[in-house]
Amino acid sequence: MPRPRVPAPVNTAPPIWLLGDPVNHSLSPRFQNAALRHLGLPNTYRTRHTPASELADAVDAIRRGVAMGANVTLPHKRAVGAHLDGLATLATRAGAVNTIVAEGERLTGHNTDVTGLLRALSRWFVEGSPRTALLLGAGGAARGALLALERLGVEEVWIANRTSDAARALARELDTDMALHVGRARCDLVIHTTSLGVGTVPDTAEHHKAAEVWSDTPWAPWVYDVCYSAEGPTPFLAAAHAAGVTHRLDGLTMLVHQGADSLELWTGQPAPRELMLDAVGVGDD
Ligand code: ATR
Repeated sequence: MPRPRVPAPVNTAPPIWLLGDPVNHSLSPRFQNAALRHLGLPNTYRTRHTPASELADAVDAIRRGVAMGANVTLPHKRAVGAHLDGLATLATRAGAVNTIVAEGERLTGHNTDVTGLLRALSRWFVEGSPRTALLLGAGGAARGALLALERLGVEEVWIANRTSDAARALARELDTDMALHVGRARCDLVIHTTSLGVGTVPDTAEHHKAAEVWSDTPWAPWVYDVCYSAEGPTPFLAAAHAAGVTHRLDGLTMLVHQGADSLELWTGQPAPRELMLDAVGVGDD
């Protein structure tokens, strides 16, 4: 007698989305789903490929409860705010949203890139803050990094960028008690935020170009790169390593911590950070 087929249970719990274009190479589902399982929650974390023309519809679907919340990635971090009902302070100051939290039909935009970077840096500075920092780049990632440095307790920041006008504009526009200068100086901490080195393959011209950024950078004991690479160290960190910098971290730590901060906002539960870091193979430096 053939046994009757038992249909697989359908998971009707609303998912959490990652909205962006492209999103298929994201590592976020790996550590978010590991965390959701660990917390015993039925929801899953899924990428939702979202061209700009579909962003408003995707946000509307969250408002209707089709998804319980979302992360937002490139190229929508600046644009999505206009579709939401309110912004948390950091999202307003950063001019960017990476997390949508739903309370009933009300959607609020948060920025956990800032707190994620702060957490990633905090593992180095348990017993006091760096006083000075050199920030390479003046785009969206640099703006978020400045807010993380402010929270870390940094007093003075030098901003160096290919287009110095953009560095000057950033230094002028950010309302902060930190002293902001344009240019390079020897500092306690360097943060690399340019898009050079994102997704480069070792031994290509692009990779060498990204490594050259280090040659203009005054040596520092702590070096953070917001980029990460599945192919080993980022070009910038490989160059810093060769120059004898022992404290080096790439953007994967920040990625996991921003995700963990988002998870806490969606679920109200403490995120299992070590498990999430393990899920993408991040160890202590
Ligand atoms: P993100 O949101 O990732 O910061 P962005 O706002 O486009 O992206 O900023 C990219 C940053 O990388 C900028 O600081 C940019 O410098 P410019 O302001 O001069 O464009 C920097 N960048 C991009 N390509 C670069 C290159 N080839 N050499 C040096 N800096 C570069």
